[in-house]
Amino acid sequence: MMYFSEKKDVVTIGALDFVLYLSAREIQNKIREVAKQIENDYANENPLFLIVLNGAFMFAADLIRNLDIACDVDFVKVSSYKGLASTGRLDVKIANEKELKGRHVIILEDIVDSGFTLDQYLPMVQAQDPASLKVCTLLEKPEAKKFETQVDYTCFKIPTKFVIGYGLDFDEAGRNLPHIYQLIDEYR
Ligand code: IMP
Ligand code: MG
Repeated sequence: MMYFSEKKDVVTIGALDFVLYLSAREIQNKIREVAKQIENDYANENPLFLIVLNGAFMFAADLIRNLDIACDVDFVKVSSYKGLASTGRLDVKIANEKELKGRHVIILEDIVDSGFTLDQYLPMVQAQDPASLKVCTLLEKPEAKKFETQVDYTCFKIPTKFVIGYGLDFDEAGRNLPHIYQLIDEYR
């Protein structure tokens, strides 16, 4: 259950407090910058965006509507099950529908944390023989990286703290928030 605090800059979910970290305005400004870069890099390439559900849905909608170039979109749903040891497994719950062979593919992710998801998923995309493959993420936690994985466009590099909002969830809560909020780990 979600409760919105009286103070607009704090959101409480269960026992956890999250403080405003990136405002909708900051997010939109950065997305416009990254959209311009992608526009320049893909002017005549008709790229195909692979949107990683669920987290990237809001980011993808805003990024793509800022692009003044021809493009296609498709969706994938993957989820990771991390074992007790360093080995883990990635389940593809929904695979891409469009053919990737010969296409310029750009994966849209919400956040690159340990890098496990991309480490597992990128080879599955490469195996479909795209003409090129790049990764664009809204957020990246460089200090949390355990897998050296390819990231080509990053909107925001953030510290290793849990964040919610703008598509990102805590136990499915908070995806609808227009801003991004960071977990407060010290209690008053
Ligand atoms: P990775 O596989 O460790 O890179 O983590 C990727 C996935 O973990 C993301 O797609 C998110 O679903 C989830 N995740 C990692 N950090 C956060 C966070 O701070 N907030 C919400 N979800 C997160
Ligand atoms: Mg995700």
